[in-house]
Amino acid sequence: METPPSKDRENFLEGMRYTASAVNIVTTDGGAGRAGVTVSAMTPVSADGNKPTLLVCVHHLSPACRAIMENQVFGVNILSQKQSHIADTFAGRIKVEDNDKFSCTKWITGKTGVPLVLHSLVSFECQLLENSRVGSHHIFIGGVQNTRFQADELPLIYSNRAYGSPAKFDVITKRNENNSEGAPLRIGCPAHLTPSFIPDLISSYLDQKPSVTFSLLVEQQGNLLQSITNDYCDIAFLGLADPNPNLHQITLTQLQHLVVVPSDSTFENSTHVTLDTLVKMPLLYLETSLYPNIIDLFASKDFAPKPVVKTSSLDAVLDLVERGLGYTIIPFPSSSSLPIYNRKLQVLELKDCDAGNLVMVTSQKKNFSLLIDEFVEFSKSYFTKIQRSDCDTSQN
Ligand SMILES: Cc1cc2nc3c(=O)[nH]c(=O)nc-3n(C[C@H](O)[C@H](O)[C@H](O)COP(=O)(O)O)c2cc1C
Repeated sequence: METPPSKDRENFLEGMRYTASAVNIVTTDGGAGRAGVTVSAMTPVSADGNKPTLLVCVHHLSPACRAIMENQVFGVNILSQKQSHIADTFAGRIKVEDNDKFSCTKWITGKTGVPLVLHSLVSFECQLLENSRVGSHHIFIGGVQNTRFQADELPLIYSNRAYGSPAKFDVITKRNENNSEGAPLRIGCPAHLTPSFIPDLISSYLDQKPSVTFSLLVEQQGNLLQSITNDYCDIAFLGLADPNPNLHQITLTQLQHLVVVPSDSTFENSTHVTLDTLVKMPLLYLETSLYPNIIDLFASKDFAPKPVVKTSSLDAVLDLVERGLGYTIIPFPSSSSLPIYNRKLQVLELKDCDAGNLVMVTSQKKNFSLLIDEFVEFSKSYFTKIQRSDCDTSQN
């Protein structure tokens, strides 16, 4: 077999990191015995023809490869997000005590005799129709004989060399243009900003308009922007460094970089802190999906911080700071809205670092419903009031 130049191989593998695929266990049984392997290279070929067809690519050295060729049948079991242990077992990443990968889960036997994962999302039983070798892999085309739907859950996804499950863009359903009466107001906000104002904003609005209902989409900023474009969301609250000419946006307030440290830290008598003071301390890095992120912020001043923990959970990061493991930086509307409750934490402001603005982004469509218009106006005056009361507090 001709091996392609190593740079091409490297680039190929690096590029394929960006694909996202369902994770399947390909199984077989028959004269050549039982075998199974974890496969992400599975794709439908055609729903039409004599039988629907799909293909899988299996490495030529895998025992499952030879067994499929001899048994002439194979099963494709699409795993759910709860079944990564089965994927890891059949990929040889988890060792099984009795050396039998099949003992990691429960099975049923399909009509063709192939083992099927009992609680897969769906299992296809296939007759081998075509087999060709390309490079290191065999491409097996199977004619689907039977399909068993077994569980209704999210699929397990493999992307960027890690497992995950798909983000649900469609949690919030598309508005029916002809019948928007009584439909919920669909608002979105990134996770770390949500506690700072969303509960209060919604409850203040409901005080005035108790009949309105809301759908709240808590997602990464990129996903929220897509939701606005695709009309899955009416209004998204985002942190933006610069005005974006492609968005219909209203600035609500400035964000500040809040530095959170344990209350018994050496900053006891300070209200402000600078990046050069922080750079040598361990950073508990809150991934916010805002741009620029905290690491870029340090890099813009030629500093390299020391992240010891990365997380997208605001709660987790505050707990870690309270335990004295380091400090965190959070772009937030104001220190008074940071939900630190009874935690033993101190909040300082980061000096000389612009954190951008909290903006409200709405769909470009001009024909807003009255409800959306009203909520936009309400949100603007809500933030004006908050700014006023923050000013009053700081002057007193
Ligand atoms: C998420 C994931 C996807 C994989 N996809 C494939 C694939 O499409 N084809 C393949 O031959 N191997 C794939 N592998 C690798 C095999 O599962 C792995 O090499 C396994 O150890 C082979 O075991 P075997 O030698 O017992 O067959 C994948 C592994 C993982 C973790």
